[in-house]
Amino acid sequence: MKDNIHIRKAVASDLDKVLSVERAAFETDGEAKLTHDLLQDPEAQPVVSLLAMEGDEAIGHILFTRAGVESDPSPSAYILAPLAVIPPRQKQGVGGKLIRHGLRMLSDSGVDLVFVLGHTDYYPRFGFKPALPLGFEPPQPVEERHADAWMVLELTPGTIEQSGGRVHCAPAMNTPSCWRE
Ligand SMILES: CC(C)(COP(=O)(O)OP(=O)(O)OC[C@H]1O[C@@H](n2cnc3c(N)ncnc32)[C@H](O)[C@@H]1OP(=O)(O)O)[C@@H](O)C(=O)NCCC(=O)NCCS
Repeated sequence: MKDNIHIRKAVASDLDKVLSVERAAFETDGEAKLTHDLLQDPEAQPVVSLLAMEGDEAIGHILFTRAGVESDPSPSAYILAPLAVIPPRQKQGVGGKLIRHGLRMLSDSGVDLVFVLGHTDYYPRFGFKPALPLGFEPPQPVEERHADAWMVLELTPGTIEQSGGRVHCAPAMNTPSCWRE
């Protein structure tokens, strides 16, 4: 079915739109604050920050921030967080559009790996796989019962086989509370 949703880059003047999508999607203010802090964090740059727009209304947002992998050679890596779609537009494909668009942009700019801590029923449909068994440790400990929620997607074939180790995230995300599901 044709829709009139389009994905575009979020610019500095979109900050209010971005934060209001985050607040609407999550029950607490935590993700809006995290998004705000990541957008200011120099170590997270260059970010990929995208809005899903329906006319003038922002209905979804996704953020990818720069990460590092402690291996030699060290692949180029990003972390996907947060992803948010406003409740009345959830389960209509908006999240999927944002993910695919962002992954295409990262792939085009030569990024090798993308990590996420997220729903194990959702992200595998985009190719994400549990990262711990593949040798990638999260920046902060993840509860054992949620270990499979720490996932990786390979954009450059062969990278997973050739690397591994601890993943580093931007300081704004490097707090234990960000790594609890
Ligand atoms: C999770 C979220 C981003 C997905 O975006 P969306 O636009 O609703 O998802 P899509 O339409 O692309 O995909 C819909 C599918 O995702 C599944 N899905 C949605 N939320 C899910 C969740 N919390 N856990 C598992 N699967 C979920 C739906 O069941 C649906 O499955 P189906 O295609 O088999 O019916 C959105 O629902 C949201 O903002 N939720 C609240 C915030 C949140 O949890 N963010 C993710 C943090 S990891």
